[in-house]
Amino acid sequence: MEAAYDVMAPVHETFARDRALEALRKDTPIQWDADNEWWLVTRHADVRAVSRQPELFSSEPKGPWHVFEHRFSMQAMDGRAHLRHRNVVSRAFTPRMVSMLSQRATLYADEAIDALEGRRSADFVTDLAVPVPMRIIADMLGVADGDLGRFREWSDAMVLMGGGHADPDLFKRAAPMVGELHQYIGEKVQERREQAQDDILSRIIAAADEGLLADAPDGMKVIDRLHPDEVKDMALFLLVAGNETTRNGISQGMLALFQHPEERARLAADPSLWETAADEILRWTTPVRAMRRVAMQDTVLAGQPIREGESVVMVYASANRDEEVFEDPHQFRVDRTPNEHLALGFGPHYCLGANLAKMEIRAALGRILERLPNLRLADGCEPVFTPSALIDGIETMPVQW
Ligand code: HEM
Repeated sequence: MEAAYDVMAPVHETFARDRALEALRKDTPIQWDADNEWWLVTRHADVRAVSRQPELFSSEPKGPWHVFEHRFSMQAMDGRAHLRHRNVVSRAFTPRMVSMLSQRATLYADEAIDALEGRRSADFVTDLAVPVPMRIIADMLGVADGDLGRFREWSDAMVLMGGGHADPDLFKRAAPMVGELHQYIGEKVQERREQAQDDILSRIIAAADEGLLADAPDGMKVIDRLHPDEVKDMALFLLVAGNETTRNGISQGMLALFQHPEERARLAADPSLWETAADEILRWTTPVRAMRRVAMQDTVLAGQPIREGESVVMVYASANRDEEVFEDPHQFRVDRTPNEHLALGFGPHYCLGANLAKMEIRAALGRILERLPNLRLADGCEPVFTPSALIDGIETMPVQW
């Protein structure tokens, strides 16, 4: 049977897409997609099985499903190379750092709302979803306030260069800006190396310099440190990994709240529900729809033989509606618990920014619910969705209040 699931189906065709995925989960949970030449893995249990066996299903080979693909990014590494990078970033993301960023996220959400003073309408994405993740990343990377305008253009260019945006003209326009961003971040790395600050970039540099104990060929132990260029690449990767994903989580989350006014009213009346609501927004919207791995040897997944070299696409959007795992999976419930969604991945590549992403969604939407209680889709307008096989994004969403 051919997959009825259209990998490009945008989220506004959710109903049809959900039905197609439901049929796949039931009848052919590991389905060969002949158009794209990859296996679609649609059940929660099988997505988890693929994620937790990196020696069998490798992250290394690159391709259009690598939304985070970036030269040398940890997301496209396996084994020790992966650990070497991941270890550095996880040592920099201390709870104190995330808590400090949390206060800033609330401040940035408030400033974005303040900037709408005197207006009655806006584009939700540009005016309300972009600022929090973009400014948080800027803080993490030590971008000075005066450089924020340029940083915003550069980070938009990075988004355009990211996976799934196919327009060659946009690509051409974005490329020189990405070059400028590389240079700017390289300078920031150098500055922080000379004079550490209280920011994540300085911590990343410190952790990179501390290095990891590794085996040398002569049997001795050596300290394996990251090269400054690797640190720069890592900083750029954080920008790719944490900016557009969170922006889409905020925009799609708002859309979900527009579409479920009773859930929105509960959340507005009882902010303690944010304990569970951010995860439900992530499950429901699944901003990173899918990720790819490549089989390193002939194997069998849930009874389906898979040959060495074949691609396997983990459809998180499907796993997050799996009726074997979620009660009433097609209902959006801000108090859902337990909620073992896979929107942030699973296993050794589990999202390093998971807590940060949830905190930002909560800060942005929490302030909006409180301060713009009448916010709604602008009359006669529809959101414009990102044409992409791998991210469920919103480009523009006119709103009024
Ligand atoms: C709603 C927002 C976000 C979503 C939906 C999301 C989703 C994901 C997913 C699905 C993965 C797993 C990739 C894989 O297994 O191949 C991942 C990995 C990653 N994410 Fe996030 N992410 C979000 C926000 C962030 C933020 C804010 C940061 C940091 C600033 C971040 C940093 C990373 C990093 C560094 C990895 C790679 C981890 C590794 O390969 O070991 N993410 N994310």
